[in-house]
Amino acid sequence: MSKEIEDHRLFNQSDNQPFADVLAQHVSRRAVMRGGLGLAAASMLGFGGAAQALASNGAQKTPLTLAFEAVQGSLTDAVVVPEGYVAQVLVPWGTPLSAGDSWQSDQPMTAERQAASVGMNHDGMAGFALDADNASRRFVLVLNNEYIEQDALWAPQGGPTDAEGKRPAEESRTEINAHGVTIVEVEKDANGHWSHVPGSRYNRRLTSATVMDIAGPVAGSDYVKTRFSPAGTQTRGTNNNCGNGLTPWGTYIACEENWPNVFVNHGQLFQDDARIGIPTDKSRYGWDTSAGDASEENDEFARFNITPRGERAEDDYRNEARTFGYQVEVDPYSDAHAVKRTALGRFRHEGCWLGKLEAGQPVVYYSGHDSRNEYVYKYVSDAAWDPADANRPGEAYDRLAIGSKYLDNGTLYVARFNADGSGEWLPLIPSAQTRDGRSLATALGLAEDDLAGVIINTCDAADLLGATPMDRPEWATVDPSSGEVYLTLTNNSKRSEEAAAATFTNQGDDIAQLGVGYETAPANAVNPRANNEAGHIIRWRESRLPNAFRWEVFVFGAATNDEGNHSGLTEMNQFASPDGLWFDQRDDGQGILWIQTDNGYEGITEYTNDQLLAVVPNSLDEIQGTGPVINNSNQQQLKRFAVGPNGCEVTGIFATPDKTALFINIQHPGNWPADGSALTQDATAETSGQVRPRASTVVIQKRDGGPVGV
Ligand code: FEO
Ligand code: CA
Ligand code: CA
Repeated sequence: MSKEIEDHRLFNQSDNQPFADVLAQHVSRRAVMRGGLGLAAASMLGFGGAAQALASNGAQKTPLTLAFEAVQGSLTDAVVVPEGYVAQVLVPWGTPLSAGDSWQSDQPMTAERQAASVGMNHDGMAGFALDADNASRRFVLVLNNEYIEQDALWAPQGGPTDAEGKRPAEESRTEINAHGVTIVEVEKDANGHWSHVPGSRYNRRLTSATVMDIAGPVAGSDYVKTRFSPAGTQTRGTNNNCGNGLTPWGTYIACEENWPNVFVNHGQLFQDDARIGIPTDKSRYGWDTSAGDASEENDEFARFNITPRGERAEDDYRNEARTFGYQVEVDPYSDAHAVKRTALGRFRHEGCWLGKLEAGQPVVYYSGHDSRNEYVYKYVSDAAWDPADANRPGEAYDRLAIGSKYLDNGTLYVARFNADGSGEWLPLIPSAQTRDGRSLATALGLAEDDLAGVIINTCDAADLLGATPMDRPEWATVDPSSGEVYLTLTNNSKRSEEAAAATFTNQGDDIAQLGVGYETAPANAVNPRANNEAGHIIRWRESRLPNAFRWEVFVFGAATNDEGNHSGLTEMNQFASPDGLWFDQRDDGQGILWIQTDNGYEGITEYTNDQLLAVVPNSLDEIQGTGPVINNSNQQQLKRFAVGPNGCEVTGIFATPDKTALFINIQHPGNWPADGSALTQDATAETSGQVRPRASTVVIQKRDGGPVGV
């Protein structure tokens, strides 16, 4: 069930062509496109299984097929998995990371306790092997804690308080500590049961107060100088970390998504503040209102109010929000500071997905900006990938120095999707030419070599280059063999028949130079998904031509009886609002594409809670007719694998290297897991009565110990 913390105002005022228009033309040309892609496949530029029919040794592969029986929809306080599978709860919110402590269901939470316990609302996550031989039995689990449920957090005292508009300092501090990232060692016992390792030297928390370094083009620039860091090289905290990324050198990337609303600016907004949506009335949780409390240390609350108050930037926190909106690299094997890698752009990053990795080629990351009519980005490193930099599990060395090599110097691009199935990557560099023929730097009012300024103003820069506004980009995933990139576009109901011009309130002079375009994206009459409530998934493949790609629609979400059920979905696979995505490549290069949902579309919510589906893309090469890749002729190959409990979102996913344990997260459940104080328990047990809900990781395994899904 969607319980979104994103901001539904529209901040993209550009008049770039909305994706709805592009899609309309693309779907109608599908028959033509299929022929075109067939030819492209022959030259290894196309899609699908044709290019992968043979294993690397030339032998015919055994086709990977889904061997579970699809589950029906469910509307219960329990996780549902297929026959022959078990599911258990692991590291629910509030689990102490140290030895000798335990969670009680009526536990009052404190700032100190929360800083030493698993954070709230688990989202993207990954596992890091400690030794290669036992990588599927023991590893460091790193997971994002995206945001908080105040009612659950403060249940023992009946909810949060804000007497006379001021949050108590201890409450603000506790909430700040419930955000961020949790790092915890986990292991499997001889009975196949998973548990965390209390007191492991790897266990630690990063919160919205933890000191972090700033690296890349923005580091040390005037844009990020604050009273806390007059040199502009550090900040405190990472916030609203949603999807995640992995690096081949063994680090984790936490992505800052819906962070702007933890700040407030009661004065005039900077251009980038307005574009990205810094509130001008109040912040989301009112942490700034705890400023001035006798216990406040080092402006820990004052920094969330970015209204300029001093003479210079170094005197106040006007720039504090400019230290957020980044990809944050974390070394799970050490206690080194996390590093904000500014070269990968500044926006509401949903995630960070590694492109096809090849020795001697740049390292590529994709990321979407999850807001209505926002964009898809790609980062390309200057440095070529050296396999000698690959992770050496469990060894102690400076992985963040390797991260600096690949993530601090490179080029950020934004995507334009053309109606003919082609696409272009537009470079966000100061000298890039805007649609009206100026340099990007000039158009943004920056000095000609101000790359930091372009990064700070990533969204405006993308507007000026003519990027394609999308239907809320959420997760992507890459088939590492083919390099095909899949991307969920979760929904976009913010469309009307006519485009409406947008105006910002509280805008500065600089904004007026850029502000044109629409507030509501124009609908296209021939586009069946003009009011895209159910979302869809696209995929693309890079071209050998520079900065070019080919794209197509993979599947449309829909309820079975929707007029726009273009993928022919049935009761056993109907879904809406795809969000999480993961391609789980096997040893032979084949893999399952796992699709998670975060849905609020009534056509589906009345049938089922949020869910996890599976499909083997390489098996879908027998496509008939026109339309998306998954359509009436092959939709039975998309199968519902699991359903979450009432009220939740299903998000975050990976499996052990041997694929025998699949890890997912249940975020913001309404009344689950069933036994409030049990450390680990059966995730499929239905709750009776009312419990204090706790977001949790869930481990799904086969009863016979075999690989999941097949
Ligand atoms: Fe945090 Fe876009 O989901
Ligand atoms: Ca998401
Ligand atoms: Ca979502």
